Amino acid sequence: MKTILITGGAGFIGANFIHYIIEKDLNIINFDKLTYAGNLENLKNIEKRKNYTFIKGDICNKELVEHVFATYKPEMVVNFAAESHVDRSIHNPNIFIETNVMGTANLLNIAKKFWQNDFSNKRFLQVSTDEVYGTLPENNTEIMFTEETPLQPHSPYSASKTGADCVVQSYFDTFEFPTLITRCSNNYGAYQFPEKLIPLIIHKAMNNEKLPVYGDGKNIRDWLYVEDHCDAIWTVLEKGNIGEVYNVGGNNEIQNIVIVKTILNILNKPESLITYVTDRLGHDRRYAIDASKIKKELGWSPKFTFEEKIRETIQWYLNHQDWVNNVISGDYQKWLKINY
Ligand code: NAD
Ligand code: DAU
Repeated sequence: MKTILITGGAGFIGANFIHYIIEKDLNIINFDKLTYAGNLENLKNIEKRKNYTFIKGDICNKELVEHVFATYKPEMVVNFAAESHVDRSIHNPNIFIETNVMGTANLLNIAKKFWQNDFSNKRFLQVSTDEVYGTLPENNTEIMFTEETPLQPHSPYSASKTGADCVVQSYFDTFEFPTLITRCSNNYGAYQFPEKLIPLIIHKAMNNEKLPVYGDGKNIRDWLYVEDHCDAIWTVLEKGNIGEVYNVGGNNEIQNIVIVKTILNILNKPESLITYVTDRLGHDRRYAIDASKIKKELGWSPKFTFEEKIRETIQWYLNHQDWVNNVISGDYQKWLKINY
């Protein structure tokens, strides 16, 4: 049985990924600092499984990460651990550089040290983002991000993810260390922290609160259901060529205002709740992913439609209001006071 080290497995995508792989023949180690975004409730129904172990820790902590490698001897690492919210990175960039760049570098160094005798059956997968490519013009929908698009990040968040990608890639280029990088578009689904657009709008609309739409609401994101992202990561781990980057996207470009109105319509709430607010600083206009490489080379494409999964996602948040109220207490309340 192979051992896989998942960092950031108590967050949104990491928890979904652990659910996705839990029935596989794998020994799963979930290493997570449990920041405001990490929540063990997301894994409650699998916490007693024999093939699952949780360790609380920071990916920047050299001694603890070395201890994990020495004790559990993982053959695969999937690095989800990150500060992930663009707005927070505008208010406090430093923690983004620390976790996303320095933390990734620490993981790489330690994996390299423990794997140095034989890289052949090892894999280090860095979960990255389409935001490293910057932004696209909104009126030329022919142009999309490919793996060859130059990296041109704008926010401190995307700059820190770009820094991490460059360090990861350098380990392949320099040491032939077995790296893989996936760059995915915006995810939605269960367990997403309600600071991100879709769960935030669902939560506020359910409570008849004003819905903050940044700028003119016409920024475009390419939305992908989280389980499709998990499936893509697994596909890349199993079949990807080391040293390669794979874009992952839903081919599903939607303006923010359309997302907000769709949610209101499904919840049967009035559009008068919409409030246009000051735009995010440095707000990227459009993201769109060309995912033809992963389709052509590895046979992956999304399975789910937005129409089906947005309804299911809304229903999940309606059914999990205790979860939402729990995660937004504490630190989140302080954040709201800074942000609005
Ligand atoms: P999230 O904020 O929901 O979860 C991040 C997790 O990492 C949390 O459990 C947190 O406790 C943990 N963490 C943070 N700092 C840590 C540290 N120093 N050491 C150990 N654990 C730490 O994030 P998410 O939305 O699940 O994103 C996961 C990854 O996917 C990130 O790397 C992000 O950049 C990337 N990504 C996200 C999206 C998206 O739409 N959410 C899209 C593309 C890529
Ligand atoms: O593209 C992938 C990225 O998607 C990931 O790398 C990030 O980790 C993830 O957070 C997400 O980044 P975005 O900035 O695109 O997601 P967010 O949900 O914060 O915002 C989506 C869009 O909605 C964006 O154009 C800003 C806008 N927005 C967001 C919030 C929170 C609003 O108009 N109002 C809001 O209150």
